[in-house]
Amino acid sequence: MAEIKKIGVLTGGGDCPGLNAVIRAITRTAILEHGLEVVGFVNGYDGLYRGNTIKLDLDSISGILHKGGTILYSSNKTNLFRMPFTENGETVYKDLSDVGVENLKKEGIDVLIIIGGDGTLTSARDFHRKGVKVIGVPKTIDNDLTCTDVTFGFDTAVTVATEALDRLHTTAESHHRVMCLEVMGRYVGWIAIQAGLAGGADAILIPEIPFDINKVAEKIKERREAGKDFSIVVVAEGAKPVSGEMVVKSVVEDSPDPIRLGGIAEQVSADLEKLVGLESRAVILGHLQRGGSPTAYDRVISTRYGNAAVELAMEGKFGHMVTLKGNNISSVPLEEVIGKLKQVDPEGELVKTARALGISLGD
Ligand code: F6P
Repeated sequence: MAEIKKIGVLTGGGDCPGLNAVIRAITRTAILEHGLEVVGFVNGYDGLYRGNTIKLDLDSISGILHKGGTILYSSNKTNLFRMPFTENGETVYKDLSDVGVENLKKEGIDVLIIIGGDGTLTSARDFHRKGVKVIGVPKTIDNDLTCTDVTFGFDTAVTVATEALDRLHTTAESHHRVMCLEVMGRYVGWIAIQAGLAGGADAILIPEIPFDINKVAEKIKERREAGKDFSIVVVAEGAKPVSGEMVVKSVVEDSPDPIRLGGIAEQVSADLEKLVGLESRAVILGHLQRGGSPTAYDRVISTRYGNAAVELAMEGKFGHMVTLKGNNISSVPLEEVIGKLKQVDPEGELVKTARALGISLGD
């Protein structure tokens, strides 16, 4: 058993429903079960760099379980291993991770629990390689982290997207239109396929299966011939045509992962209007998928992850990330998680189910 007295907590990357539930579970477990002290770093790794902390106690985490966002704030720009500086008009990158290590020492922090997705956990892995005692918690609405069945925040994103699809059905039916809903997910189609199944989509386009727009149009025409003169298409932001590229909305230069996707649904909608002859509209759901209260499922999984993170620390399993396999909480070394992408299997059961129900995958 490692001698642990004080835990630090940090939330990095995009905000995500359930972050506060994790912070609350960590703080309550640490204080009530183990009598530890807890502090949070403000603004993700930026707080670690500046030594900007706040005390986390039973009062400061009271009433946050159901709240979206993170009381510790977040940043998807600071990477202490590659900090940009301007020197002689040029951008140069410096490794300032030692500043973070020093700040942990100054604060007397024994273990740092880092809550984040691939980018944030890559730095967690790198701090562990430097000898820092870290524990990772898998966060992202995209559900693209390997070694865990699910990341917290994903269920909420799917629920929001499903509700949007229910609402879009109304306009699609009333106006005999094709409604194309673009959902987030970066380079994977988890949100798209799950929301598409839950929301009764007629076509679901995911990055893992490049689409032929003519095939999607055929599906919609088939429906018209069967008397259904409206259709619902779910488009993952990372979906791409067979002979085309993903649509990049913007490039955030100072972000560790600078590419921001977005806009493919506009293309799909315009093409379908021409090919099918039905009026068509695109709706980009965007950050609504990340905002607001977590679902009950996400509150429970976040609570279990937060509790497990503290228990891992007490067991001395540093450099590990908590995971969910089936219904069992466990952990894996961060080394096994980083740099991989958990994709939807194009031959897997989810895709097969969609096909069996007559949903077009655009191929
Ligand atoms: O990774 C979460 C996510 O919401 C992705 O689904 C999306 O592509 C990206 O972050 C958007 O990032 P930003 O908030 O920087 O626009």
